[in-house]
Amino acid sequence: MSYAYQLKSLEAYTAAYKKSIEDPEGFWAAIASNFYWRKTWDKVLDWNFNDYEVKWFSGAKLNITENCIDRHLATQANKPALIWEPNDPEEHHRVLTYKDLHFKVVQFANVLKNNGVKKGDRVCIYMGMVPELAIAVLACARIGAIHSVVFGGFSAQSIADRLIDANAAFIVTSDGAYRGNKEIPLKSVIDDALIGCPFVKKVIVLTRTRIPVSMIKGRDLWWEDEIKKVETMGNPDCPAEEMDAEDPLFILYTSGSTGKPKGVVHTCGGYMVYTNYTFVNVFQYQPGWVHFCTADIGWITGHSYIVYGPLSAGATTLLFEGVPTWPDAGRFWEVVDKYKVDILYTAPTAIRSLMGFGEGPLHGKKLDSLKVLGTVGEPINEEAWHWYNENVGKGRCPIVDTWWQTETGGCLISNMAGVTPSKPTYATLPMPGVQMLLVDENGKEIEGNNVSGNLCIKFPWPSILRTTYGDHERCKTNYFSTYPGLYFTGDGALRDENGFYRITGRVDDVLNVSGHRIGTAEVENAINMHAGVVESAVVGYPHDIKGQGIYAYVIYQGTHGDESLTRKDILQTVTRIIGPIAKPDKIQFVAGLPKTRSGKIMRRILRKIAEGETTNLGDTSTLLDPSVVEEIMNGKL
Ligand code: WTA
Repeated sequence: MSYAYQLKSLEAYTAAYKKSIEDPEGFWAAIASNFYWRKTWDKVLDWNFNDYEVKWFSGAKLNITENCIDRHLATQANKPALIWEPNDPEEHHRVLTYKDLHFKVVQFANVLKNNGVKKGDRVCIYMGMVPELAIAVLACARIGAIHSVVFGGFSAQSIADRLIDANAAFIVTSDGAYRGNKEIPLKSVIDDALIGCPFVKKVIVLTRTRIPVSMIKGRDLWWEDEIKKVETMGNPDCPAEEMDAEDPLFILYTSGSTGKPKGVVHTCGGYMVYTNYTFVNVFQYQPGWVHFCTADIGWITGHSYIVYGPLSAGATTLLFEGVPTWPDAGRFWEVVDKYKVDILYTAPTAIRSLMGFGEGPLHGKKLDSLKVLGTVGEPINEEAWHWYNENVGKGRCPIVDTWWQTETGGCLISNMAGVTPSKPTYATLPMPGVQMLLVDENGKEIEGNNVSGNLCIKFPWPSILRTTYGDHERCKTNYFSTYPGLYFTGDGALRDENGFYRITGRVDDVLNVSGHRIGTAEVENAINMHAGVVESAVVGYPHDIKGQGIYAYVIYQGTHGDESLTRKDILQTVTRIIGPIAKPDKIQFVAGLPKTRSGKIMRRILRKIAEGETTNLGDTSTLLDPSVVEEIMNGKL
């Protein structure tokens, strides 16, 4: 049976899904034949979920940048590959054609090589949303260096942790970054991070905001000077490094249940195939379309659906430096009209926050170029879904609700725009090749429809994570040991009468704040760094805009002064240790925490209290001291 690459009807989806389950290797080999491989694979798939190992397209040779850039040069060299909308609408935007992008990537790849970066080296990229961020990412991929992009909102301490974990000796950053009315001094944050990282050899600094920076001789170099050096070499080419399909492409750190973020590793071949396949199918991309994904490249959504997915499909990808609410809450709509955006892909948090401004900012905006809308990162509530549908899509654009994770590389559950049915608040059906199931606490499969449970996957797809950097055991324990033989997502879900999935949220100690993953243990560790804090416990609670807010219960024994000042100090500590995204929304000072006799904090109770529950706290019979609960309830914020 043959099927098209782009599935255009429910029947085509059903047939492809069936084929992908009955003959996964045949299915993915046919999909993978649409790419440029220097050498094709010897074997499509080797896998084992018990002693976790997965290999896709073994023996194949490729370079992902040849698929994202070079192969488009023959047919569409002058087509815009990347459009950049700066933070300030008064500043000039930039357009890079595929030819320009090729030129810039090759040039910066040579800069990296001149500075001693070799295949397999880890390069940390800490920048704002400027074209050079995408260029640096692709330049790493060009020479086979492993990029580790760190979101520009993370603190010096977070960067240092990631540099040490990956033993990254090279950094690409900029003097500063603009975000709304803020200017973030990136290079100075890097300087602080490097105090404990003497192994870092080179820091390449792009000029963006012209904020004063200190440059250390021999270590710190200006991007522009380095470009000049390769220009004097007569603009040599930079042939793409030949990579094995299973060579690492990048590391991206993400939060889990423990205090330490883990470096999720994706490899070249499978990741390329899957991000492209899902980009083309989920959004039903058509040649000539402009794709606007509002995520930051510092998160997986930016990696997969600003950079690799769209570019490998030859699309025009829009990169936006700013925020949705600056200079006003009409910014997204202005950008959509300015570039005649076809696909808009954003997070429910952004939609809810824009909803709060009412319809005013939409007045006078046409939005008639839009064809497809998408959401990602957190569950979307019904109200936000309808607002998006009516006010932005004007009722004529399908909305795709895409469920996936840093670890999955690309969308795993989503409707396909206009092709498979949508249902508000439901991610709906798995993509071809994705074998979802729900299990109960004991790992027993829950069959049938109208059921809920923990979301697992029983078979690998091409862009599943391969390992957590430097610690394969951790990868095994984290994802494959809760339910042996299954990949456990950490999410809970329900399946309706049609077999559609609705994600209900994390069932582990991970919070999802504004679509950002944050581990409760990480926030607790940060709070506990504050000198006066004895102990803390962090839980999530429902938040109208952010989806989840952070509620911290803190035992404080510092000199007791003004409570609000102490709160401010604690927030500052969290900002310094992790970054502003992890700042608790509420801090309640308590005398004790509810613990079991064995000393374990009963978070379940704290969660209920934070959610506003006053009577039904569940089983409290194992509590060591029930009186603390009463006291905490009385002091609830
Ligand atoms: C959540 C982001 C509901 C989920 C791509 C997941 C979602 C975590 C959705 C991964 C969605 C992502 N509906 N929840 N459409 N998409 N999530 O690694 O809890 O930053 O486990 O990847 O976000 O977050 P991550």
